[in-house]
Amino acid sequence: MAPGRRARLGDDPIRQAHRLRAAARTHRRGVDVTDAGTPGASLTIRDNRTGQEYDVPIVDGTIRAADLGKIKSDDEQPGLAVYDPGFTNTASCRSSVTYIDGDKGILEYRGYPIEQLAEHSNFLEVAYLLIHGELPTKEQYEAWEHEITFHTFVHENVKSLMQGFRYDAHPMGMLMASVGALSTFYPAAGNIHDADNRHMQIVRMIAKMPTLGAWSFRHAQGKPYVYPDNDLSYTANFLSMLFKMSESKYQPDERLVKALDVLFILHADHEQNCSANAVRSVGSSQVDPYSSVAAGIGALFGPLHGGANEAVLRMLRRIGSKENIPAFIEGVKNGDERLMGFGHRVYKNYDPRARIIKKAADDVFEVTGVNPLLEIAQELEKIALEDEYFVKRKLYPNVDFYSGLIYEALEFPPEMFTVLFAIGRTPGWLAQWNELVQDKEQKIARPKQIYTGDRGLTFTPAAERWA
Ligand SMILES: CC(C)(COP(=O)(O)OP(=O)(O)OC[C@H]1O[C@@H](n2cnc3c(N)ncnc32)[C@H](O)[C@@H]1OP(=O)(O)O)[C@@H](O)C(=O)NCCC(=O)NCCS
Repeated sequence: MAPGRRARLGDDPIRQAHRLRAAARTHRRGVDVTDAGTPGASLTIRDNRTGQEYDVPIVDGTIRAADLGKIKSDDEQPGLAVYDPGFTNTASCRSSVTYIDGDKGILEYRGYPIEQLAEHSNFLEVAYLLIHGELPTKEQYEAWEHEITFHTFVHENVKSLMQGFRYDAHPMGMLMASVGALSTFYPAAGNIHDADNRHMQIVRMIAKMPTLGAWSFRHAQGKPYVYPDNDLSYTANFLSMLFKMSESKYQPDERLVKALDVLFILHADHEQNCSANAVRSVGSSQVDPYSSVAAGIGALFGPLHGGANEAVLRMLRRIGSKENIPAFIEGVKNGDERLMGFGHRVYKNYDPRARIIKKAADDVFEVTGVNPLLEIAQELEKIALEDEYFVKRKLYPNVDFYSGLIYEALEFPPEMFTVLFAIGRTPGWLAQWNELVQDKEQKIARPKQIYTGDRGLTFTPAAERWA
């Protein structure tokens, strides 16, 4: 193209369809914050290397990276790319699972506010909602509950596999390995393009996760593994597999069941976080869902993702008493350390889950007695929320600030915290995976790189180099 001319990049039928859908959404919501539905919305780019200008279509507040790839300084050179370590400003998919508005502190699953789900729903119904996209009818819910209950048992060889771990194996490592191993028990799971088959594996995984999580907990304690009790609810059965000893039937306190169920709901999905991205990235190779979810568990294992609540407990223990809080806060403000459980990459407001967790904490402490660290946490929150340093940076309590206190009161060792998170997150991972598999626009994940190494060196065989 002659210099100075303006090229209009990409406006294929898929994008036109997206724009129409975006326009319909905009119309429904009555607001347009992203240029979603503006026909012809575009970005003009001038490439100062060549003097050429390009019009790049904007749909849903995004431009296509592939359009940038068409911008070249000459035909020999690769096209323009974006450099975005950590994908901080790159959309990797279109998703209708979870909506977050971090500035306003909004979290919705399939359009339903988390507050309403936590108060009026239960974890299994939320799992159904995430997977199927809508709330179940009575018949659908009963069938779903029956299916999940029916599949809680695992093959005896899974038990032998888990028993093979060292006595001090981390339960999260055991969970990751045993979920990955399930792919060998269900080889048909590789048939990911069959909807019935996908449904079967989704049911199995949600059903078996508490069994595997509870057994990894019992293993560390040297206690016999407890088989599922399918007369109990999903969460009550989990507590039974964790804590049952010689009694013929374990009946957990309903207040604890409810609190743990709420915690599962709060953790059920959080759109494109590190582990969801891992599930999608591995799943994009079209491998079976057990392998994909095992990758998600691996991502969640990391301290930057699932481990912050444990860090909160360590911090509270170190502070020790309310009198030490001002000195601790001064240290944080001087940059010596961070106030763990505060701040979030997305939420620049009170994390809506933290509010709900505070209420769940009260319910749990009513049964277990108050965790002595609670007083320090509450005072710390009060002081931080009034302090200019935290206010200016929009640092508010996140989901991890209080969850560790609850888990500790329920007598979970810190290593179990991420296992609980993983059980709650499983429906979200599977909803993301299910969406990925059916998304015609998705391709195998393969980011670009900026190569910084040597080129064209001449190899000298070892015998010559070492002579
Ligand atoms: C979650 C977290 C990693 C998000 O980080 P981020 O979005 O990359 O934010 P940044 O690291 O850019 O922080 C922005 C500013 O706030 C400060 N800040 C962020 N979190 C802070 C915290 N918990 N305590 C003290 N200061 C904090 C940073 O020092 C930075 O200050 P500056 O602008 O003066 O340099 C971060 O808030 C954090 O480390 N929190 C504590 C760990 C935690 O609770 N993680 C669980 C998340 S669910």
